[in-house]
Amino acid sequence: MYGLINKAIHGLVRERFGPEAWERIRTRAGVPDEPFLSMESYPDAVTYDIVAAATEELGMPAADILRAFGRYWTVYTATAGYGELMATAGRSFPEFLRNLDQLHSRVRLSFPRLEPPSFSVSDERADALTLHYFTGRQGLAPLVEGLLQGLAERFGVEVDIRHEFRPDAEPPHDIFHLSWRPAAGSGPSAPAAAATTGAPAPGTAR
Ligand code: HEM
Repeated sequence: MYGLINKAIHGLVRERFGPEAWERIRTRAGVPDEPFLSMESYPDAVTYDIVAAATEELGMPAADILRAFGRYWTVYTATAGYGELMATAGRSFPEFLRNLDQLHSRVRLSFPRLEPPSFSVSDERADALTLHYFTGRQGLAPLVEGLLQGLAERFGVEVDIRHEFRPDAEPPHDIFHLSWRPAAGSGPSAPAAAATTGAPAPGTAR
């Protein structure tokens, strides 16, 4: 995966656990002591080794680390030069989810060797939908859960996520049953509540 991802994991560990924790994780993962280059493509094993080393050093299950990283990523990308891209990807939670493939297609313009996941939406209602997640990579469903939590926060909604693996589907893939409501504290006239209906959310209006 591109260095941008490893760089963000480094950022998360440094912010939450301090530079010494990163040093221990990096050493255990056998990663050289040099900055990741955002635009350089690294073997996926580098990212998986960092997550495995973090589970040992922090005593946290890999799923929790991936979930935390997913949430962090939605904020990180907005501050790491991709705010515009995030802002144009959708004005509401469901609209953003429908546009995930388009978002990664635009990312590919800058990252030509990108191997992005693919998403599709089904069973859509006013406050619920099913998100289908397709990838050649293993074990990243908790990452998607974290990303969905982060996106929900971005749009001022509280989301319930029910994850299921569909081995019988063609191709087999993970699905996420999502339902959401305005986050507590945002009344019917609050801008965040409008995010459920498609009107611009704070910081996302265009
Ligand atoms: C502007 C924002 C974003 C950028 C720049 C971006 C970029 C990337 C990059 C560079 C990768 C690594 C893939 C590779 O290097 O081949 C990746 C993977 C991934 N992205 Fe995004 N992404 C963005 C937003 C999102 C959002 C909002 C989601 C929400 C679902 C998402 C879901 C994923 C997942 C799940 C992966 C892991 C790889 C896989 O599943 O196969 N991304 N993205």
